[in-house]
Amino acid sequence: MFKKIDHIGIAVSNLDEAMELYKKLGFEVKEVEEVAEQKVKVAMLPVGESKIELLEATSEDSAIAKFIEKRGEGIHHIAINVEDIEKALENAKNEGLKLIDEKPRVGAGGKKVAFVHPKSTKGVLLEFVEG
Ligand code: CO
Repeated sequence: MFKKIDHIGIAVSNLDEAMELYKKLGFEVKEVEEVAEQKVKVAMLPVGESKIELLEATSEDSAIAKFIEKRGEGIHHIAINVEDIEKALENAKNEGLKLIDEKPRVGAGGKKVAFVHPKSTKGVLLEFVEG
């Protein structure tokens, strides 16, 4: 059901500054886009089959803005690449796990994504990404 770690999401307060820092480390910035639905600006930095996702809030009520306010910049979520997101969600629901999204929504790259509540994953916000 799970194919790989799709990406690790990192909350940053300034995307341009963060991209410059990561470039200095040797990362390559592949895509930068705004995901309006999630009120974030996103930069994808490929690492082999996986990616680092840098996230900057575009609004004060964005989940990323709230996260930084509470905990500061840092790892925000881990995303797992799944074959069938509906199936993964149904399975989690059947197991009685707490979901943030009962149904997939549109995430970065126009992909179907859904989040599992950290309460059901020992404190780690988990994202399912299809495809
Ligand atoms: Co993500």
